[in-house]
Amino acid sequence: MWNFFTKKNNVKDSNQLIDMNNIPKHIGIIMDGNGRWAKEKKLPRSMGHKAGVETIREIVKECNRIGVKYLTLYAFSTENWKRPTEEVNALMKLLVEYLSKEIDELHRNNVIVNSIGDINKLPQICIDKLNGAYNKTKNNDGLILNLALNYGGRDEILRGMKLLYKDVQRGKIKIENIDENIFSRYLYTNGIPDPDLIIRPSGEQRLSNFLIWQCAYSEFWYSNIKWPDFKIKHLHKAIYDYQNRDRRFGGVKSEQ
Ligand code: FPP
Repeated sequence: MWNFFTKKNNVKDSNQLIDMNNIPKHIGIIMDGNGRWAKEKKLPRSMGHKAGVETIREIVKECNRIGVKYLTLYAFSTENWKRPTEEVNALMKLLVEYLSKEIDELHRNNVIVNSIGDINKLPQICIDKLNGAYNKTKNNDGLILNLALNYGGRDEILRGMKLLYKDVQRGKIKIENIDENIFSRYLYTNGIPDPDLIIRPSGEQRLSNFLIWQCAYSEFWYSNIKWPDFKIKHLHKAIYDYQNRDRRFGGVKSEQ
């Protein structure tokens, strides 16, 4: 069996192994391991996040190149506010820097920069940058990059439930008509298909409140590689493994 992780392997090799006719439409990534990466190198945690931004650049470019339609990156959760103020500030600064530096290239490459989560609680400069990036890129038709910021799956479901309740009260929706499709419209991901593949590097094997409604039938892929060390070949390996899974969505294969 060909080994993706031998020293000889390069992006060209791994690229040849993925089936370009079966690229996952929506990939979600829990970008984990920045802190541990930095600790190993005796650097402050913020340096791990900074290195993580380099990985974001590469992975966004490659997802766009191979035709992934939606890429959702878990960048800041509703629980991440518990981190030291210094780290939270560093993350917000990195977000602003990323959007400022990358927006022209993202736009040139036809990427739409979108966000999911309660971004109104972020510092004003982040809100302005996110809104500016969306307005500049919203008419593009390439990859839709969803930055999950101040995002939490439980928070999203509660928010959706309250919005839906208001529409029931106003008589816009009848309770007996509520189904999964209708409820999905009240989530941040309204209009975005459920993720096909969720990638979590760094060795952890949990969902951490990421897209918990939408992940019902997503394929999970874990790796011990920490996010700053996650390369295009790892993305290819995740896609290759995904392409070799048997997705049944609770049913059985037609020949069984
Ligand atoms: C998890 O690693 C990572 C985060 C909570 C933040 C991810 C954010 C970025 C990579 C940069 C900012 C975002 C953008 C869009 C520019 P961790 O700190 O939990 O790692 P650890 O588990 O090793 O401590």
